[in-house]
Amino acid sequence: MTTTVEPTTEDLETQVGAFAERVMMATIGSFELATVELGMRLGLYAAMADGPVTPPELATRTGIDARYAREWLEQQATSGFVKVDAEAVRGDADTRIFSLPDAHKVCLLDPDSLACVAPLATFAVAGPPVVSELVDVYRTGGGISFGGYGADIRHAQAAANRPQFANLLATEWLSAMPDVVARLREPGAQVADVGCGCGWSSIALARGFDSVTVDGFDLDEPSIAEARTNAQDAGVAERVRFETRDAAGAAPGRYDLVCCFEALHDMAHPVEVLAAMRAMAAPGGTVFVVDERAADALTANDPDPIQRLFYTCSVLHCLPVGRSQEHSAATGTVMRTATLERYAVEAGYTSVEVLPIEHDMFRFYRLRV
Ligand SMILES: C[S@@+](CC[C@H](N)C(=O)[O-])C[C@H]1O[C@@H](n2cnc3c(N)ncnc32)[C@H](O)[C@@H]1O
Repeated sequence: MTTTVEPTTEDLETQVGAFAERVMMATIGSFELATVELGMRLGLYAAMADGPVTPPELATRTGIDARYAREWLEQQATSGFVKVDAEAVRGDADTRIFSLPDAHKVCLLDPDSLACVAPLATFAVAGPPVVSELVDVYRTGGGISFGGYGADIRHAQAAANRPQFANLLATEWLSAMPDVVARLREPGAQVADVGCGCGWSSIALARGFDSVTVDGFDLDEPSIAEARTNAQDAGVAERVRFETRDAAGAAPGRYDLVCCFEALHDMAHPVEVLAAMRAMAAPGGTVFVVDERAADALTANDPDPIQRLFYTCSVLHCLPVGRSQEHSAATGTVMRTATLERYAVEAGYTSVEVLPIEHDMFRFYRLRV
């Protein structure tokens, strides 16, 4: 006789948590492999075999752009692939010195060694079509637009944040600002969603507040087209409109709430965008920015895997996206609180409040107009 033991709710929760973490760790690993491939293709590790480097020295040795050299080195240090030999002098990140440990030289640079694992990185990134373009922009200092990464990235981005918005935005996140919730419950309340992507945040806001209308703006035309379809399918199209527009030039106005979800660090001109968001807020309105929960400072061999994830995203995607327009601030994924605060001051805000909302990935900023 066989007996089937049903898992308890507690067992199931433990298993769900363990598996979700396992997949997240694998994702970070695959992103890190892509940064290894980038370093291999650009000869960055080979250049470091000649001795320790600062970011500008690595750029000179390999002929790549200095800002990208810095981001790659910082990410590699965050992941523990290179070491920090000497910290930045007087906070100047370009003076930090990095080196490649001897054991890592064997694994990455000795093609005859049984321990040579560099080809594994090539396998891992054989699919993504943008690697060759990344190699180019790392040399030229150019960028790749969000749309230039193709439909898969657009869909992955939308799918990753959709459950966050659907489950948390209109409830947990906004309840940290009770006055905003009260205002959104008033008839005729209006919301702007800047960098709305495929529109799931706008849709969640319309679903969460019965009489609210939402205007979503994004630079990427295919995202806006999908956002319109998503709003239609969700049955909120009459209260949610989308427009293709550069947020740095968005119209001044009348919005009770002006939001930007995980997009400011991707924007070439974050100060101009924040200034436009400020102008869009109605008297007494609120500006709400959600962006990555970046650590306050660079930590080599960071025990927090999320910081490694942020830097891999920055090296491979967000920094090039941010640099796809001229005169970019070149922020990257790792937009620290101090950076956001500086941008906000330059955009004319009087203060920035970090809201007490628990989240592994995001930090929540309320900007005083
Ligand atoms: C990481 S995605 C986030 C999208 C969406 N908010 C979400 O959470 O899924 C960043 C978005 O910012 C948009 N973006 C970048 N620069 C922009 C700009 N200057 N004006 C408007 N949108 C911009 C991109 O097209 C992209 O859809």
